[in-house]
This record gives sequence, C-alpha cells and structure tokens, in this order.
Amino acid sequence: MKDILTAPFVVEMEKTTANMYRLGWDERNGGNISYLLDEKEVGEYLDLTKVIRTIPLGFDATKLKGKIFIVTGTGKYFKNVEFDPETNLGILRIADDGQNVELLWGYKDGGKFTSELPAHLMSHISRLSVDPTNRIVMHCHPTYTLAMNYVHELDEKKFTHTLWEMCTECIVVFPDGIGVLPWMLCGTNTIGEATAEKMKEFRLVVWGMHGIYGVGKTMDEAFGLIETVEKAAQIYMLTCNRPRINTITDSQLVELAEHFGVNYRKDFLDL
Ligand code: 13P
Ligand code: ZN
Repeated sequence: MKDILTAPFVVEMEKTTANMYRLGWDERNGGNISYLLDEKEVGEYLDLTKVIRTIPLGFDATKLKGKIFIVTGTGKYFKNVEFDPETNLGILRIADDGQNVELLWGYKDGGKFTSELPAHLMSHISRLSVDPTNRIVMHCHPTYTLAMNYVHELDEKKFTHTLWEMCTECIVVFPDGIGVLPWMLCGTNTIGEATAEKMKEFRLVVWGMHGIYGVGKTMDEAFGLIETVEKAAQIYMLTCNRPRINTITDSQLVELAEHFGVNYRKDFLDL
C-alpha cells in the first residue's frame, strides 16, 4: 500500500487550500472543498474495506452511493491543511443507504466533514447530471467578490454583465455566467438545494453577502473560475466610485465570444 500523504489528490488539496488562504479567500475556517476521487486510485493508498467511523449525513445522497470524496473538515483552517492533512481533511464514501458516510481516512481529532456538505454533494449531483466529468466543488469568501455584493444588485444578469465588462477574458472564462442566490442561512439543506438548482445551469454561484461556489472537472478549472471572478470584482471595486470613461461594449463581448467559440448567455447582454 502506498503512503496516502504522497497521493496526488491529497497533495492537490494541500496546495490548493494553501493558495486560497494566501489569496485571502479563506479567513479562519472559511471555505470548503470536496473532490470526487477515483475508487481504483484511492485503493492504491487505503484499504477500502476498513471504515473508521460512520457519520450521518442529514439528507439523502443515494445518487452518489459508493462514491468517494476527499473533503475539508468543519471548523478547520485552510492555512493548516498543508501541515496536518490527516486532521483537517477526510476521505469518505457515501454509504449504500445514502444517509451516512463511511470515513476511510482523516478527521483524526474526531472531527467531521464541512457543514456545507449538503451544498457540496447536492451540487455534485447536479453537475454530474450535466457534465459526468465534474470532480470539484469549491466554496470560499473572496474579498472583492464579497465587497461587490454590498454595492451591486444581486441579479444574475446584471452581476454577470458587470463582471464581463471588467476584464476582456471574463466572457471567455465564464460564458455561462454566474448564478446568484440571495442571503440565506448557510450550512442547511435549504441553501444546498438552492445551490444545486443553480448548478444545473451555472458553474459559479454567488451566495449573497457570504461567498461563492465554483465547480470543475479539475482543481484548476474550479480555482480559475473563482480567481477570474475575483479579479474582475477587484477591478469593479477599484473603479465603481469613479466616472466610467471607457468600457467594453456588448458588441465587443459578442466579438470575443464568437472569436473564442464559447457558448455564452446571450440573454445576459443588452443587444
Ligand atoms: P466549515 O468550517 O463547516 O467548512 O464552514 C465554513 C464556511 O465557509 C461556511 O459557509
Ligand atoms: Zn462560507
């Protein structure tokens, strides 16, 4: 059996959480990541018949039964993951009854998965239904995106359109736009269901006055989506209280989308 601490998916979680922390996206225990793993690959590092603990889920995840995820722990600080992955991360399998998870590794101090697991697993179900190659769900609290929530309308068309105008490549990176939810109580099945509903059409979902979710086939895709939104939100926050002298026009946005061959939300433009 190979050493789990050398597994590429553990190293990826360490590197990504460290990066997110240093970018200021994940203060204290803010943010969480879940990563759908390949059973065969995990089997090279762990005895899959050995369950450390069974933990109730509090919602039905039958559609994911047997699937294995590596997930950040609740209350755990992203800055600490790289120094103690076995305490701050867990590898879990969705039990056959869909009501519990079987802990295969991690949460060494008796901890458990993120309080946002409903939003994560429900989003995995939604994304897998439209893109069977999706693997990552990532949540964080990026500073400028959050700041923008307080001064910009929380309307998905307007929010997306403003961000598309902020950097030339935004419409190419997230042509499908950004779903926006109003402020809702976090850590609940209700916000999980609302997020998952948005995830059927968006890879990015803003949680009003809380943070953002991004998904992808790879860690780079999910990270890159959030990173691009955050950059655009930063430009917006740096410029929104000054007169706008120049802007990228809607016809230029169309030109970009057509040149790069992306399928963009035409209804998010005012042509
Ligand atoms: P957890 O510590 O439970 O992952 O919660 C952090 C968070 O960002 C809640 O939305
Ligand atoms: Zn959060």
